[in-house]
Amino acid sequence: MKKVITYGTYDLFHQGHYNLLKRAKELGDYLIVGVTTEHYDESRGKVNVIDPLLERIENVRKTGFADMIIVEDHEGQKIEDIQKYNVDIFTLGSDWVGTFDYLKQFCKVIYLDRTPNISSTQLRQTRSQIIRTGIIGTGRIAPRFLSESKYVSGIEITCAYNPEKAEGKLFEINHDIKCFSDSIDEFLSYVDAVYIASPNETHYEYAKIALEQGKHVLSEKPLAFTKEKTLELHDLADANNLILLEGIKTAYCPGFQQLLNIAHSGRIGKIYDVEATFTRLANPEAREYTDYNYGGSFLEFGGYTMLPIIKLLGTDYKEIQFNSILNEDGNDIYTKLHIKYKDTMASAKTGIGIKSEGQLVIAGTKGYILAESPWWLTKKFVVRYEDPTVIETYEPNFQGDGLRYEIAEFVASINGYSKNSYKLTKEESLAMAAITEEFMKLRKEQK
Ligand code: CTP
Repeated sequence: MKKVITYGTYDLFHQGHYNLLKRAKELGDYLIVGVTTEHYDESRGKVNVIDPLLERIENVRKTGFADMIIVEDHEGQKIEDIQKYNVDIFTLGSDWVGTFDYLKQFCKVIYLDRTPNISSTQLRQTRSQIIRTGIIGTGRIAPRFLSESKYVSGIEITCAYNPEKAEGKLFEINHDIKCFSDSIDEFLSYVDAVYIASPNETHYEYAKIALEQGKHVLSEKPLAFTKEKTLELHDLADANNLILLEGIKTAYCPGFQQLLNIAHSGRIGKIYDVEATFTRLANPEAREYTDYNYGGSFLEFGGYTMLPIIKLLGTDYKEIQFNSILNEDGNDIYTKLHIKYKDTMASAKTGIGIKSEGQLVIAGTKGYILAESPWWLTKKFVVRYEDPTVIETYEPNFQGDGLRYEIAEFVASINGYSKNSYKLTKEESLAMAAITEEFMKLRKEQK
């Protein structure tokens, strides 16, 4: 019996997939089809697959060509499968010519002609309109957004806005963007959605104008500095049926999701304490140091450190307490936040003038999770127990600088495909805004 194996994502199952499976089956007597998991796809850079795994498997099954369907979830699995199932022929479409020649030492490798003019990528794009997105603010983060958005299908950056004409023009030229405007109304008329990367204190105003004009909003954190204003934006988005996403990158990273899931699974027992630290020394002339109203370490990094606390211990805290070291401008160069819940606790440390270990520790009754710096990208974490010899290490997928996961979530939410609003809920966003508001109130009194 001649065994053939082939692999694919089979998202939005199409004629190209059907033809390929048919011809693969004709190469032998028994066809094994490997269907990829979402995680594996993410690690290969496909960040917005639409159909869930079970649906993709079901579509392959319905063709009647597959004698066995397996799930592909890691790099290197092809060699394992070929040996395990005694495969004679490995086959794939001609878009992969050459890539899998290394398998020739295990079996025959055949590349079949690809069906022209159809692909899942194309279908994803035509199924929903390309989201014309504009960038508000052309500073440090904007170029990163531009390059990371290229990894997400269904979004196109069409315009940039900056009230400072000269700066915006320079961005337009340097980044080959289609248009630039220094008029917010004109800019908004060119786009369906905006990414707000302007100075922190302007997020709220821009988000409000954009939502009022019917545009979806992805804003850098924080959305606003008070709970009331954050709620106002969410209500506005809800009322107009628009997506409003707060861009705390960590919330959308696959590794952080996995860490939360393990913490929630009971593996380390009941969680009693979460400690998160984020410090990055800033230049004393930098805005973080000198901006009287919006500078300081907590406003800069507090969003990151509050996230795991709120995600793991919830929004119903009982007490918060801040301790800060201030510079002569009254800005905190280091802040320690303590949060007390009914029977659990947490602390968050942020610094721009004092350096500490940037780690996340989640302490439970059976063990703890330790994510080392940069835990906010969550590329690696360990689970440890009383017995020091038992260490479970996780090294989740992480591509680029991580912004693509946030962008993919934004696109999927707009298209109505996202089942993921749990990644950062409105309640969580509001709880963090309330803590930030409290911090600003205290600092004002101190000043
Ligand atoms: N395939 C094909 N003809 C097409 C599209 C895909 O023969 N027009 C083949 C691929 O070469 C592969 C299999 O179908 O062997 C599964 O491909 P997959 O990557 O799932 O589909 P694509 O449409 O190529 O997906 P994407 O656009 O996301 O890359």
